[in-house]
Amino acid sequence: MGSHTWGASAGTGKPLGFTGVPVSVADTLTVPVEYEAQVLYRWGDPIGSAQGSPAFELDGSNTWQEQSLQAGMHHDGMEFFPLDQDPRHGLLAINHEYTDDGLLHADGMKTWNADKVRKSQAAHGVSVVEVVERAGVWQVMPHSMYARRITASTPMRLSGPAAGHDMLKTAADPSGTRPLGTLNNCAAGQTPWGTYLTCEENWNGYFSSRQHPGADELRYGLGPNGWGYRWHEHDERFDAAKHPNEPNRFGWVVEIDPMDPTQTPVKRTALGRFKHEGATTTLSKDGRAVVYMGDDERFEYIYKFVSRDRMVPGGYPANRQVLDHGTLYVARFDAQGHGRWLPLVHGQNGLTAERGFASQAEVLIRCRQAADVAGATKMDRPEWIAVHPQTGEVFVTLTNNSQRGQPGRGVDDANPRGDNIMGHIIRWREGTTQHGDAGAGEFRWMHFALAGDPKADKAGSRGTILGDMYGCPDGLKVDAGGLLWIQTDVSTSALNQGAYTSLGNNMMLCADPSTGETKRFLTGPSGCEITGITFTPDRRAVFINIQHPGETASERSDPDRPQAVSRWPDGPTGGRPRSATVAIRRKDGGIVGT
Ligand code: FEO
Ligand code: CA
Ligand code: CA
Repeated sequence: MGSHTWGASAGTGKPLGFTGVPVSVADTLTVPVEYEAQVLYRWGDPIGSAQGSPAFELDGSNTWQEQSLQAGMHHDGMEFFPLDQDPRHGLLAINHEYTDDGLLHADGMKTWNADKVRKSQAAHGVSVVEVVERAGVWQVMPHSMYARRITASTPMRLSGPAAGHDMLKTAADPSGTRPLGTLNNCAAGQTPWGTYLTCEENWNGYFSSRQHPGADELRYGLGPNGWGYRWHEHDERFDAAKHPNEPNRFGWVVEIDPMDPTQTPVKRTALGRFKHEGATTTLSKDGRAVVYMGDDERFEYIYKFVSRDRMVPGGYPANRQVLDHGTLYVARFDAQGHGRWLPLVHGQNGLTAERGFASQAEVLIRCRQAADVAGATKMDRPEWIAVHPQTGEVFVTLTNNSQRGQPGRGVDDANPRGDNIMGHIIRWREGTTQHGDAGAGEFRWMHFALAGDPKADKAGSRGTILGDMYGCPDGLKVDAGGLLWIQTDVSTSALNQGAYTSLGNNMMLCADPSTGETKRFLTGPSGCEITGITFTPDRRAVFINIQHPGETASERSDPDRPQAVSRWPDGPTGGRPRSATVAIRRKDGGIVGT
């Protein structure tokens, strides 16, 4: 543990050859001098639908119907899907995680009505947009046959072992298979058969529960009035006191075929119900799908799904059921770098009727409780998981956990810091050999880095980074050449304060997994998080998202002072700050990260 000595980088060009950027508190996006960045797709930009292209109103006065044909708010995970042989033409599927209703409506939340709820719901979900590079400039294609918005009210389907279970039935859907919408879509993934996996994270925040929630509701954070979205006041579906099973229809991984704008998105219950950060898919040696997933909350778990069936050629039409049958595992991190995958299978590991699990469907719906019983390791907020395409090595960000050292909790080998305000990154290899199988039942792990500032006052916040400092790692991806990209999310209530002051604004770094060397690639504007990362197949462009520039500590802006924190990306005349997808290239057209 603590060393950086696994694997080799297979990139072309000199890895980390760019000029690193310093920390920054400026309200601007900074990239290396050898690079250029272009704002491509902002909240409110038309998606390029044939049904209309309503322009963004700078004062937030677009209607909910217009919002449903525009980019949603708070861009998060995303994936690029090439359309043809041209690596500079494809589809971007982009998550819109949540809304700042202080910015979303002209007068914020001062007044509240059903249309504002509809607009907030329309600003959630997913965008699918067609993008192309022409003469060095990326653009969103107008009148695209693929352009699509998926929102909190889009008709969907539940499939897999829990579909149709009594706990998923509601008055509006007695079948328990026809839910509406997806919420708080955080990280994402791409399957080897070309679909998009979008993940429902803090969906509990949208529901108002009964005054005294039950144990199952408390385990998933449901409470009266939720997190202040106020949807339940005008949309009864989000009043869980009246519709107690509606929350059970969220917390899933949703599969979307970006190539088919008529497809009904599918919630895959075999992958378990929790606060899904992301879903990263690779293949086992015998061709089965292996999906890695984190549950982002303090003391929650890391999961992996291994499909029963092998992937076959033929894209999504030939692989529609792969994510419906298989085994869900949860990780136990043992001492001395050993680890084990515990199957969450009814009848095994204590998951019996006597312990409260009547069926496999209940194991999946009450997945957190099942993982408790199985004896998984409680982690410091598992965020993104990335797989190295050459070595198969897996990386996970644990973003922070200031409560680790509290009485009744305590550190362990995998989560070694009591006041873990800076977070860490763990790496593991599947199996017990150098080139193990992603489907293996055990693994060997070590720390890639404990994050922090080497000059921090407290020894526990200094970290072990080899190179440029960062805190609160969240977004994570290994590119096709083997470079590890790290994005940070110091929360806006902590950004540039206390121990985080020296770190400045949130940032993205690039690391070489073979040496551990880490260099800062980008710093974001004020009040933003950096999240979402995907590459063109030729690695000549990287797309990232600037999420919630200008966010205030309360996460809800003052509509009378929308630019109080940031004017990014549109400047002083732009009305209000906007989350946006940014395309970044080397000025000389070279490989990104070199
Ligand atoms: Fe949506 Fe865990 O970040
Ligand atoms: Ca995240
Ligand atoms: Ca985060």
